[in-house]
Amino acid sequence: MKERVLSGMQPSGYLHLGNFAGALKNWVRLQDIYECFYCIVDWHALTSNYAAPAPIADYKQDMLLNFIAAGLDPNKCTIFLQSEVKQHAELHLLLSMITPLGWLERVPTYKEKQTEIKDKDLNTYGFLGYPVLQAADILVYRARHIPVGVDQIPHLELTREIARRFEFLYGQGILVEPEGLLTESPKVVGLDGRKMSKSYDNAIYLSDTPEIIEKKIKTMMTDPARKRKTDTGDPELSPVFALHKIFSSSEEIGRVAAACKTAEIGCIDCKAILIKNVLKVLQPLWKRREGLAKSPSVLKDILNEGNKRAATEAEKTMEIIRKAMKLSKITKAEIDINHAFMTLKELLIKHYHDEGKVKAEAAAEAEKTMGIIRKAMKIS
Ligand code: TRP
Repeated sequence: MKERVLSGMQPSGYLHLGNFAGALKNWVRLQDIYECFYCIVDWHALTSNYAAPAPIADYKQDMLLNFIAAGLDPNKCTIFLQSEVKQHAELHLLLSMITPLGWLERVPTYKEKQTEIKDKDLNTYGFLGYPVLQAADILVYRARHIPVGVDQIPHLELTREIARRFEFLYGQGILVEPEGLLTESPKVVGLDGRKMSKSYDNAIYLSDTPEIIEKKIKTMMTDPARKRKTDTGDPELSPVFALHKIFSSSEEIGRVAAACKTAEIGCIDCKAILIKNVLKVLQPLWKRREGLAKSPSVLKDILNEGNKRAATEAEKTMEIIRKAMKLSKITKAEIDINHAFMTLKELLIKHYHDEGKVKAEAAAEAEKTMGIIRKAMKIS
């Protein structure tokens, strides 16, 4: 049996190269190794976008489309939508009962995001509870491995703490403590050299046309000290080179680095090579997306099927959790066991009944003989 993996992605923007190279490519690889559950966490998107939820619907659709186009195979993994599996909400509520406020206030992203994001009021109950919802996402599947970036480690640590507290209060062996699956994934820089992010407006989107991608890369910053083509450059100072490291062959990476240092090629040439390579990486994805666009019901079916599979698995855990927290006296498993016992009991009764009949018949036959023997021996 394969070990279980769960991960989630927030539909809070269109998918970009950073999501693709940093997470999605890794998810595609993992689907052959583990039993994978991949969740579009739309409730999480609401924790910071509750005031303007309208675009989330588009982001979800774009995410699902690109998941499949990037190579996630619904026959190998379960792709589902958080808000369609209500067990996440139920477990979030139950875990909120046992999670001390101090633990949540201590999560570094909580204060960071509150100060960083100025245009939204994140002083809400839901935003504070973000990591509790994430813990519910993970624990409800008893997932062992969680592929995430290092920024998510505090959330995973909190999940483990919540799991331990749950087990201390309600019983051992109910939940699984998850571990981060930290695969080396590249930090994808954006057009301006900062981390690629929708909020920095520096992203190349998977849905951008080749023309837009070309235009975006052409306007990228390079080594600021390299003003003329004849100036030698330091590739390590150029975000264009940072993208080469992800999208170009090692041979080509070596070549552009050397040519930059000696001013053999200029930034425009270097960018042209990068454009060619980025387009090459995205070509198969676009091709699959074209195919999908022809049959729109396919995506809907994939999601429905995934939601169902996820809910079935989540419900198994919830039945045990409800029982452990004394919310239900009897679990489905117990009903099944009871049913099995009852069937067995009936069979046994029938068996013994039959046996009794057989015994009585044999006794009657024996009695006939004994009657004659007793008479012959003058006993009766
Ligand atoms: N917080 C994660 C992020 O921003 C998204 C997420 C939600 C997640 N639930 C999860 C990741 C469960 C892993 C497992 O990247």
